[in-house]
Amino acid sequence: MAHQRSLILCKADAVERGLVGEIIARFERRGYIISGLKLLRVSQELARRHYAEHEGKPFFNGLVEYITGSPIVAMVVEGEDAIEGCRSTIGATNPIKAAPGSIRGDYGQTIGRNLVHGSDSPESGEREVQLWFTPEELFARDHDQKEWLVSA
Ligand code: RTP
Ligand code: MG
Repeated sequence: MAHQRSLILCKADAVERGLVGEIIARFERRGYIISGLKLLRVSQELARRHYAEHEGKPFFNGLVEYITGSPIVAMVVEGEDAIEGCRSTIGATNPIKAAPGSIRGDYGQTIGRNLVHGSDSPESGEREVQLWFTPEELFARDHDQKEWLVSA
């Protein structure tokens, strides 16, 4: 077991369909800590850096349009083995293949509108948290788990 951080995005369709509360609740109910949370309009530059691994693929431009088109919610979700745990809560990339009970399996129809992003490895999690949040925007619990502290 390792304490990990995952960058979770409620993509444009999740915000437009009013599913943000439902999505946040699923991570909270699983016992994860939300240590950063904001609503924002994503720049082309941030979208391209975030999805740099997919540059050149046929769906890349559509993907950038999808997450820059209207505001999205970004959050940092952390806990034990949070990378794998969040990915299972989110479900498979293509909602048709995502298990019922997962976010994509319950609310999605197509791969191009799959509602949520979650980091795919501990290294991606750290890279993406630093890409999307400043240290001042993040909060951590103290050792007794009683008080919230600004991470910076
Ligand atoms: P994400 O990064 O958004 O959490 O999704 P993922 O890890 O499950 O899937 P990934 O392979 O990283 O793909 C990133 C996003 O690109 C869109 N996509 N479209 N049309 C296609 O074949 C296709 N493949 C991927 C999806 O929106 C996917 O979430
Ligand atoms: Mg991915």
